[in-house]
Amino acid sequence: MDVFEALYTTRAMRRVSEDPIPEDILKQMVDAGIRAPSGSNRQGWKFIVVTDQKIKNQLGDSYREAWDFYVKEFYGGSADMGASNVPNDEKAEQVVRISKSAAWLSENFHKVPAMFVVLSRNDPTGSSIYPAIWSIMLAGRAHGIGTCLTTVLGMFKPEKAFEILNIPNDKGWKIDAVITAGYPLGKWGVADRNPVDEVTYLNTWGNETNWNLENPLWSY
Ligand SMILES: Cc1cc2nc3c(=O)[nH]c(=O)nc-3n(C[C@H](O)[C@H](O)[C@H](O)COP(=O)(O)O)c2cc1C
Repeated sequence: MDVFEALYTTRAMRRVSEDPIPEDILKQMVDAGIRAPSGSNRQGWKFIVVTDQKIKNQLGDSYREAWDFYVKEFYGGSADMGASNVPNDEKAEQVVRISKSAAWLSENFHKVPAMFVVLSRNDPTGSSIYPAIWSIMLAGRAHGIGTCLTTVLGMFKPEKAFEILNIPNDKGWKIDAVITAGYPLGKWGVADRNPVDEVTYLNTWGNETNWNLENPLWSY
């Protein structure tokens, strides 16, 4: 696959089929992930690939609790994640779409065929893990696997997850993400984002680029 196709179309693909992912693909996703850079090449990371149904059921229960807590804490329990407070209709629709899709994932987390639990430690930058996470997702995309980067489990129910996964809790590990993975039920498409001109300046703050990049530079 063209690298730009992977970059432009790797989306949060939450709705996936229950069909298992061949082990060779799971292997390659992690093998691509560990090629990613980390500060001082420390590689302070571990990956737990979960395919066992009993463990997925347990993680699913904890994920749902974490998701419900997040929606309650940050959106006062509003299932549309505050879409009604978004002034722009188009943006509000997007928020509703994401909240529905995220709620679907929280209900169906245990049915996702594979999950990559991503852990890190000893990382003064606090961000060394994200290139590896993204590389796992891009490698999945190259194999036609849809992924979704999730963080609520590690944020709100880490103790439960440590217990379920038998992670030592005295070694400094933290769960940065759980990447869900499976064959997509929906279609791939170019990620819709605020255009480059809106978010980029040239040389100094406020100096417009005038690159006229209203449309993506790669499309189907
Ligand atoms: C740091 C980070 C944390 C995220 N956490 C979650 C999460 O806990 N649950 C979830 O369903 N999606 C989560 N997402 C997915 C985002 O909602 C998604 O990437 C975003 O809406 C863009 O989706 P798109 O690429 O399909 O347009 C997270 C994404 C990022 C980058």
